[in-house]
Amino acid sequence: MLKNNEILDESNKLLRKKSKEVVFPLDDKDLKMIKSAEEYLEKSQVEELAEKYDLRPGMGLAAIQMSIQKKYFVIVEEQEEKFEKYFFANPKIISHSSEKIYAELGEGCLSVNRDVDGIIPRFARVTVEAYDKEGKKFVIRLREEMSIAVQHEMDHLNGILFFDRIDKHNPFKDMDKYRCI
Ligand code: NI
Repeated sequence: MLKNNEILDESNKLLRKKSKEVVFPLDDKDLKMIKSAEEYLEKSQVEELAEKYDLRPGMGLAAIQMSIQKKYFVIVEEQEEKFEKYFFANPKIISHSSEKIYAELGEGCLSVNRDVDGIIPRFARVTVEAYDKEGKKFVIRLREEMSIAVQHEMDHLNGILFFDRIDKHNPFKDMDKYRCI
């Protein structure tokens, strides 16, 4: 499983770099990282395991957070006590809702070890085209929390951290224009 010190901290400049298109097949290092990121994220969402292994709860990890400058990320979502794993390489938003939402509790990031106040408007629904681990293209429609998660991870591929999107002078600016989830 991924170790805490293998996740880059926000102070690391690599996080600000743009990631490169994935060329398939993925190599062994990628496959190993993907597996250990999935394991980390899943365990981190189970309270007793998070405590046992000292994991911060997280839903997604982009390759760049694990020092791999490639356009892919992993998301693990709990659904009725089961864990659904998602993998996206070279993702593109092909359409999105005009409606925007924000996460009531704010967004968290395993690279940001502090609380950040403020709202981050995200598309409520997105349709994303991406490639799976085998390099096969797929299209997926995402809404609500998953839509936010994918937009957050896609930002990582462009060197953007979530707090970049928070208005510094007025972190809760225009919050009544967006739906809170
Ligand atoms: Ni993040």
